[in-house]
Parts: sequence; structure tokens; C-alpha cells
Amino acid sequence: MMQDPKNGKINFVSMKTATVLSVLLFVIAIGASAFRKDETPVKELTLSMINKDSVESVKAFETVYKVLMSSRCMNCHPAGDIPLQGDDSHLHAMAPKRGVEGKGVYAMKCSNCHQETNTPGLHTPPGNPEWHLPPAAMKMVFQGKSAHELAKQLVDKKQNGNKDIKKLIEHADDGLVLAGWNPGEGRTLPPVSHAEFKKAWLTWINKGAYAPKK
Ligand code: HEC
Ligand code: HEC
Repeated sequence: MMQDPKNGKINFVSMKTATVLSVLLFVIAIGASAFRKDETPVKELTLSMINKDSVESVKAFETVYKVLMSSRCMNCHPAGDIPLQGDDSHLHAMAPKRGVEGKGVYAMKCSNCHQETNTPGLHTPPGNPEWHLPPAAMKMVFQGKSAHELAKQLVDKKQNGNKDIKKLIEHADDGLVLAGWNPGEGRTLPPVSHAEFKKAWLTWINKGAYAPKK
């Protein structure tokens, strides 16, 4: 409160101004901190982006997350060093190990059983020339990650194989990603089509690559 020394009256004008100012500052502070805590865009990505929109971005990530956590994708992105199998994502029979390059160890190399294309029949190995896990130094784990954790991990160059935004976008058409939609007999497909996945992936990134709150 301000007291005018001449007449002893309280100066209401400066009181009002002060109140309005502090309310404004409060609102700005709240706004800024909410922005920082809940939906964290990655600095490097947002600098070059015009088209920022946390709501659409987070919404698109819902679809992306559903696909990443489906067994066709998660089975190669396990928390441990053994790949997973089946729609229930159980540990791979005979427990082939990741190895330094993700291609297996000693006589248990992935390519011993996983050929260049799918082997016909039920319970046979799916095939792809590149069939392997992410390497030991960069495990790219999906299993057990919340949507918030996974979104942040995907755009972190130290965890995503040093991918910049261009490479991340291109990864939607990676051979192993496409393999998810050609999984071999008896395996369910990811929850949406590849076209829908790609659209959601691009929207998520182009709208600022925001991470959901949880
Ligand atoms: C055969 C195993 C395999 C399957 C199946 C697989 N991936 Fe991967 N994934 C990998 C490997 C290996 C890498 C690392 C290669 C690289 O970084 O280019 C990788 C990297 C990635 C990355 C980049 C990692 C990051 O943190 O940005 C994404 C995204 C990804 N995969 C998504 C998927 C999706 C979506 C599917 C299912 C449709 C899928 N993957 C299925 C093996 C697999
Ligand atoms: C001894 C043979 C053999 C080796 C070695 C092997 N696999 Fe497999 N893998 C199979 C068979 C067979 C299946 C199919 C099992 C089924 O459908 O019941 C399979 C299935 C999988 C699946 C499940 C695919 C899906 O969509 O659910 C993944 C992932 C996988 N293998 C990854 C690997 C990786 C990575 C390696 C190397 C580290 C590897 N495998 C080594 C035989 C092998």
C-alpha cells in the first residue's frame, strides 16, 4: 500500500496498478511453468519449427504410442537383452542374446534362423535382410516405457541413434518398421495401418514433438 505523505490518504491508483501487475506476472509465471513441466518440446527440434501445437502433437502421439507398444514393434525393443515373441510378447525361445551389434552372439546369430523374407508357415521365423535388435550401446527400449518417457527418448539424439528430425521422419519407412505390417502367418498387425501410423508420426513431429503429461 502507498500512503501519500501530504494528506495521509492511501493512494488507490498505485495500489490497483500494483495488484494488476502482480496478477499479470502470476499468470505469466503459471503459464510458463505449466508449459515447461507438462509438455516438453525438445529444444533442438522446436527452434526450426513454425508449426507448433502441443494439443495436436500430443494427440497424434497417442496413435504413435499404441503402435510402438504393439507386439510387432515392442518384440524387437525389449527392456532386456533377449528379443520377445508372439502377440503376448513372451521371451524368445532358446533365448538368443542381443550381442554388441544386436545381431546375436556366437552360433546364435539372428540371421541363422531369420532369412531375408518370411518363412512360410505358422511359428516360423519372420524374415528381413536387416533382422536384428538395436545395439547394446543404444538399446532403444520401448517395453515398460510410459508415453511421456518414450516421446522424450525418441527425440533424444543420445538415445535414438543420433537421429535428427529428418532421419526421424524417414524412419517411418524403415525396412524393419515396414516389416511390422508384413509379420508372417498367424501374427496380428499393429493397431492401425502403416499409412495412419506415418500420418500420426509426421503430425507428432511437425507439430513440435511434444511429450504427453504421462
Ligand atoms: C527385427 C527387429 C525390429 C522390429 C520388428 C522393429 N524394430 Fe524398430 N528398430 C530396430 C533396430 C535394430 C533399430 C535401430 C536401427 C536404427 O536406429 O536405424 C530400430 C530403431 C527404431 C526406431 C528409432 C529409435 C528411436 O528411439 O528413435 C524407431 C522409432 C523404431 N525402431 C520403430 C519401430 C516400429 C514402429 C516398429 C513396428 C512397426 C519397429 N520399430 C519394429 C529393430 C526393430
Ligand atoms: C534358432 C533360431 C532363431 C534364432 C537364432 C533367432 N530367432 Fe527369432 N525367431 C525364431 C522363430 C522360429 C520365431 C517364430 C516363433 C513363433 O512365431 O512362435 C522367431 C521370432 C522372433 C521374433 C518375433 C517376431 C514377432 O513379430 O513377434 C523376434 C522379435 C525375433 N525372433 C527376434 C530375433 C532376434 C533379434 C534374434 C537375434 C538376436 C533372433 N530372433 C534369433 C527363431 C530364431
